[in-house]
Amino acid sequence: MQIKDHKAVLVGGASGMARATGVLLAEQGAQIAILDLPSSDGEAAAAELGGTFHACNVMDYEGTEAALNDAVSALGGLHFVCNTAGGGIAKRTLTREGPHPLEEFQQVIDLNLIATFNVSRLAADHMSNNEPNDDGERGVIINTASIAAFEGQIGQVAYSAAKGGIAAMTLTMARDLGSLGIRVVTIAPSLFATGLTAGIPDDRSLSLTKDAAFPKRMGRPEEYARMAIAVFETAMMNGSTVRVDSGQRFAPR
Ligand SMILES: NC(=O)c1ccc[n+]([C@@H]2O[C@H](COP(=O)([O-])OP(=O)(O)OC[C@H]3O[C@@H](n4cnc5c(N)ncnc54)[C@H](O)[C@@H]3O)[C@@H](O)[C@H]2O)c1
Repeated sequence: MQIKDHKAVLVGGASGMARATGVLLAEQGAQIAILDLPSSDGEAAAAELGGTFHACNVMDYEGTEAALNDAVSALGGLHFVCNTAGGGIAKRTLTREGPHPLEEFQQVIDLNLIATFNVSRLAADHMSNNEPNDDGERGVIINTASIAAFEGQIGQVAYSAAKGGIAAMTLTMARDLGSLGIRVVTIAPSLFATGLTAGIPDDRSLSLTKDAAFPKRMGRPEEYARMAIAVFETAMMNGSTVRVDSGQRFAPR
């Protein structure tokens, strides 16, 4: 699907990988709306891209639905979604203090898996109203997992379960939405220099990326963005989870 004159919602677009995706999309002539936390940099990011900002917490599922409706009204339609809102905690299944608190496990599932599914199902509903292009396409949904979906490190049990769920539902959702011409792809990054991780000093990031094949460094937000653009543009990209990880396989710690 061509980028120019098409309409994109970036969930988590105030920062990092989704913001970088917004920059590339805007440069190539897309119209942008950003959904992010009220406390985020969303207003400034949207202004920079000539787009609109719609504050919400993705864990407030009804509030997110309202924010997405507002974003789609402001855009006048929806073709692309890139969803990066998410995050994890560091907690083992069992420690001397006792078993992993269930409510903390649940929160990570809610933030990553349930919120991602919520945005996906609602975005698909909006996209289903589009006239298909010559290739029969109506829209593209990109969700964000992590290589921890496949080789989670010690203390990532909740995060791995949540990101694994995002990876696992990708093909099923693509099959569900295939008859509508809506594609679904998940991007699974290794460690990227965004948000909190952007502050990690070079010597520490070297040790965190020592298991990478090449290059042995953190990813850059624009490298995620370039992959996202390729997915949006390439009709044959569907139903897969794409690792963007310089060949890294996480060791247990
Ligand atoms: N940075 C990494 O090393 C890395 C690696 C693998 C996967 N990921 C995944 O990438 C995503 C984070 O993207 P990023 O690295 O660009 O980080 P980032 O912190 O730069 O951006 C994330 C954005 O999501 C927003 N957000 C967070 N929680 C939200 C909520 N509840 N409601 C609405 N918005 C919310 C934040 O305000 C922020 O603007 C997460 O899903 C994370 O699990 C990150």
